[in-house]
Amino acid sequence: MKISSQLFAALAVLTTAGVASTASAGDNNYGPYPNYYSEECGSCHVPYPPQRMTQAGWQTQINGLKHHYGTDASVDAPASQTILSYLVNNAGWKEKLAPTDPTARITKTRWFTKEHGATAPKGKSFSDCAQCHTKAVQGDFNEQSLKVPAGWLK
Ligand code: HEC
Ligand code: HEC
Repeated sequence: MKISSQLFAALAVLTTAGVASTASAGDNNYGPYPNYYSEECGSCHVPYPPQRMTQAGWQTQINGLKHHYGTDASVDAPASQTILSYLVNNAGWKEKLAPTDPTARITKTRWFTKEHGATAPKGKSFSDCAQCHTKAVQGDFNEQSLKVPAGWLK
């Protein structure tokens, strides 16, 4: 009896939290990421959440790794296959998650611009998610860990 009432209390807390976050931002936790993904795709920038771009977008990214925004981010064929499978299996499908530029920047997708506006904080790049999403490295993009630079208006 004691246990079940504790369980009930815990469930009640969970339910309330669930409702609150649906009303605001939904569950924007995309981690934990597999180690191979964080290691290969999270060394120069945070690993980007696969769910936030379409399969076509990730395919473009992986195809272009040799010439990746002015750097060579290529990995060997087996690793590239593993990463691509992970990205494609977890990709989103909605139209607003589709790439809109030839290199498939996640920051140029329609959902991104809608949530973030078009102008990053002065002297900063949107690509550096962790400036604002303090737990971006772990894949946590919830509001609780969001800390926006002073003076930035989206
Ligand atoms: C050697 C460093 C390096 C590695 C490794 C790397 N990237 Fe990048 N990546 C960059 C740079 C530099 C940019 C451009 C950032 C900017 O414009 O500020 C970038 C940008 C991106 C973007 C676009 C971000 C935006 O602005 O929308 C995506 C998506 C991306 N990388 C995915 C990946 C994936 C997937 C991997 C792993 C296979 C990877 N990157 C590995 C350096 C790297
Ligand atoms: C300059 C600060 C800033 C940067 C950099 C930034 N974000 Fe955000 N992000 C925000 C703010 C503010 C919101 C909340 C928007 C709202 O709820 O009105 C947000 C919301 C989100 C959401 C929730 C969207 C939803 O559907 O509720 C996701 C996911 C997200 N950002 C991902 C990213 C990713 C991925 C990057 C990096 C490529 C990034 N953000 C970079 C400020 C930032």
